[in-house]
Amino acid sequence: MYNATIFIVERYVNVLIIGAGGREYSIGMALQKDEKVDALYFAPGNGATDELGTNLTISDHGELADFCEANDVELTIVGPEAPLVAGIVDLFEERGLKIFGPSAKAAQLEGSKIFMKNFLARHNVPTAKYIETDSLEEAYKFIMSLDAPIVVKADGLCGGKGVIIAQNHNEAKKAAGEMLSGNSFGEAGTSIVVEEFLDGYELSVFALCDGEDYVVLPAAQDHKRLHNNDEGPNTGGMGAYAPTPLVNDEIYKKLDERVIVPTLEGMKAEGMPFKGVLFIGVMVVNDEPIILEYNVRFGDPECEELMPLIKSSVLDLFYKGATNDLKNLELEFHDKYAVGVVMASRDYPYKSSTPAEIIVDDIVHDEIFKEHAHISYAGVTRGEGGELLATGGRVLVCVGMGDTIKEAQQRAYMLVGQVHFAGKHCRTDIAYQVLNR
Ligand code: AMP
Ligand code: GLY
Repeated sequence: MYNATIFIVERYVNVLIIGAGGREYSIGMALQKDEKVDALYFAPGNGATDELGTNLTISDHGELADFCEANDVELTIVGPEAPLVAGIVDLFEERGLKIFGPSAKAAQLEGSKIFMKNFLARHNVPTAKYIETDSLEEAYKFIMSLDAPIVVKADGLCGGKGVIIAQNHNEAKKAAGEMLSGNSFGEAGTSIVVEEFLDGYELSVFALCDGEDYVVLPAAQDHKRLHNNDEGPNTGGMGAYAPTPLVNDEIYKKLDERVIVPTLEGMKAEGMPFKGVLFIGVMVVNDEPIILEYNVRFGDPECEELMPLIKSSVLDLFYKGATNDLKNLELEFHDKYAVGVVMASRDYPYKSSTPAEIIVDDIVHDEIFKEHAHISYAGVTRGEGGELLATGGRVLVCVGMGDTIKEAQQRAYMLVGQVHFAGKHCRTDIAYQVLNR
């Protein structure tokens, strides 16, 4: 019988990764280790992905498709949400190219919070009580019906910054007023969601879907706030670890039955079968998983910890995801933990910082240490002399692996100690949720 697994194993595949962050670097690292991957391309990639493959300067989606045709690129993996929302998957598929990610229609799950909240309501997926509105009067009325704190969200994509957790009613009204007047987030905030505050612990759960079937990766926990003890402003994420022992089989089962299955069936029934990474932002309240949000891509920095935990072929995972063949996938994970610590530039997340040279001590090259810790590069550029410069907000992620979370954490921080650049800062408590219990 025809067997897709053998089909893939027997030849080499050229792969294109769209994106420029640590997330894309970590996908590239995992693929580079896969003996079935031949040429690896990044568009645009960053100053370090050129060590894993070739960076392309093409950004136009049509030209990227031309490149894939001309260079036998058999699989494209999309990292960030913006090209998905803009329809890169639709364009590639119309041209008969294999690509892992959702269509523009399906990407609305992330592109519009209102679409997402209404979808959850239509399919009875548990989520916080909410209204969507463009009327200030309606927003005020709903705010007054809730207990503080109150959550106010802009509708569109705001780079993870469109959520205000207001500590009292006046603060909530002020946030709603500023968003609706277009002062806070421009067009992205002219419709808003107001919702009740959920008090629990947060998870990042990733279901990789092929439109029909799915596989779930071990649950991770991100650290969204800038400072230790979850203080300071929200960021894109300052570190993560996986798998989290906070999730037991019962919670995974509830996630399957109440969240993932109804979502995938709902998407199919509504004519937009979901293919790609369904990133489920979950708040667990009294052992009940309640959905905060969906994203349609991997989390960053969660991806940097999850990729090295995958023992089976990462190429197979993405390839089968892109070709509706996940039912034939045997996904295996290492029996280990991963902790990732983000090292950020001086003024992150407020403004960009002056470029600073990154020096990594030689100990990193020690073979034993290298086996258990590595860097996933993100906001970096290659300088004229070949040196690596910190040029982005989140510069890199130090990832430690271990038999326990403590061991993984120690290795991650040991690596942090070997990395130097002016203005560097990081949280020193990644994975505190499970280590301080
Ligand atoms: P979002 O962009 O919707 O993921 O929100 C960003 C962050 O705000 C989430 O990761 C949560 O930490 C927090 N958040 C969002 N909605 C709520 C809610 N209803 N209750 C509590 N925290 C929330
Ligand atoms: N780490 C959260 C995100 O990527 O949105």
